[in-house]
Amino acid sequence: MTGTGLFVVGLVIAALLAVAGVVTVAGRRGPAPTDVRGRFDRRASRTDRQRVQALADTTVEETETPEPAVVEAAEPSDPLLERDEVSATEYSITRRKFLNRSLGSLWGIFLGQFALAGLAFMWPRLGTGFGSPIAVGNFADLKAQIEQPDGTAIPLFVAAAQTWLVPFSQAEQLGSSFEGLPVVASDGSDIGLMALWQKCVHLGCRVPSCVPSQGFECPCHGSKYNLHGEYEAGPAPRNMDRFGVSIDGAGELVVLTGDVFETPRATSKTSRYPLGPFCV
Ligand code: FES
Repeated sequence: MTGTGLFVVGLVIAALLAVAGVVTVAGRRGPAPTDVRGRFDRRASRTDRQRVQALADTTVEETETPEPAVVEAAEPSDPLLERDEVSATEYSITRRKFLNRSLGSLWGIFLGQFALAGLAFMWPRLGTGFGSPIAVGNFADLKAQIEQPDGTAIPLFVAAAQTWLVPFSQAEQLGSSFEGLPVVASDGSDIGLMALWQKCVHLGCRVPSCVPSQGFECPCHGSKYNLHGEYEAGPAPRNMDRFGVSIDGAGELVVLTGDVFETPRATSKTSRYPLGPFCV
């Protein structure tokens, strides 16, 4: 599933959770506030009537003690008075609970969205786009396009893989920054192909190739790399990053754009640079 698909699923789940939360909270709200207020008024009225009656009895017969039980018994039977009474404290707690549950629901929805967004971001790309293996063409054809009769090379850019393809001698891999890494694909000959990520390792600008100097020169802050993407100058902290590569059964060069290899600034270079004027 793509990140967009997960995001849509997350929105649907969040909406269902919100509806469920509202229904749950609404179902627990209890009697409407108008009912509560009405009962308070009747109780207050009954208390007032009792006090007035008690005062009147005391005035007429000071020695006679009022009998609350008799007053209670004289109350008219009113169905409204038989309801469960809710105190002011209980009423305020109910409202507080409502607010707490609302805030809790919103917080839960936020956390759910955040978790789904994180999951979508980290979800492995199993499709055919960037981040997965990409077949970029027949290995022999690509190599023939890149290598020039005069011994120089014209790097080939493959937009789908965000990569520059450059030639690389397998013999030079030993002792280089790339020794032991699966970053050179070969059909058995010494010269194979390497796939450099187009992104500058300084701040991420796209690095163009410079055929005259036989290197890569970043227009943003002037970092320079040789034909194999080894650091030569500028603020870049390391060599250009590169992808894993392989050749499939049909002879196609496959760039594994999910396998990125970082290497430190090369101390022993595998390519001479510059071989001509700079571009930047
Ligand atoms: S982004 Fe390339 S040198 Fe700064």
